[in-house]
Amino acid sequence: MRSKVIAGNWKMNKDLGESEKLIKDLKMSLNFDLGGTRVIICPPYPSLALAAKLLEGTSIELGAQNMYTENEGAFTGEVSPKMLKAAGCKYVILGHSERRQYFAESNEFINTKARKALSSGLIPIICVGETLEEREKNITDQIVSVQVKACLKEIAAADIERVIVAYEPVWAIGTGKNATPQQAQDVHRLIRKLVSQLYSIQVADRVIIQYGGSVKPDNSADLLHQPDIDGALVGGACLKADSFAGIIRAAASSGKK
Ligand code: PGA
Repeated sequence: MRSKVIAGNWKMNKDLGESEKLIKDLKMSLNFDLGGTRVIICPPYPSLALAAKLLEGTSIELGAQNMYTENEGAFTGEVSPKMLKAAGCKYVILGHSERRQYFAESNEFINTKARKALSSGLIPIICVGETLEEREKNITDQIVSVQVKACLKEIAAADIERVIVAYEPVWAIGTGKNATPQQAQDVHRLIRKLVSQLYSIQVADRVIIQYGGSVKPDNSADLLHQPDIDGALVGGACLKADSFAGIIRAAASSGKK
């Protein structure tokens, strides 16, 4: 039985005051039964400690958008898993396509970060997904397989069930063009199959696989009804409390599997 997991990736949006407002608005908007749906927000680093405080006593959980592989030291500009834990984070997004594209993050580096996150007690949300060019060349499965295998490399069987995989086709991120439910389901099924080959069918059955890329209140129900889509990683639509709440409502009413 996999519960739905909806995570909001705020990206580089919302200063401290704006973060406070959005969190307060979100708390007011989530005035319905979540039906077991897990809700996570991932604000920028400077807002994390404040967010943790504002989320106390709520069922909304906290995540960060990135981290480095060491706990401390001379790594100017970086933030460690230890710092994220101390700030109140339970999750960390790793390998987002914007990190891959603008900061040249490789699968190997993302894998090192994922293993460090797990050994630090953080749950990594590992992002994979093909570009438009790769989809048009019909090599989506190949690209996603390489990413999944490399990003999960040497993650122990005992840890894998804590990992969340987010399938985010790059061409659907921030473009308003979401994958059709069937296109997304096909890749989610592939990812679950890969996890079953790398670990076991039982493990694959429990791993959460989110879809991300232009998820909005009006397309979320169809996506979330797909058998292998266990939630959403939401960018643009999580910056407004009512639209993020609309997606969470769709997840809550899609029920548990
Ligand atoms: P989007 O972003 O919802 O704005 O497409 C999703 C993401 O990048 O995680």
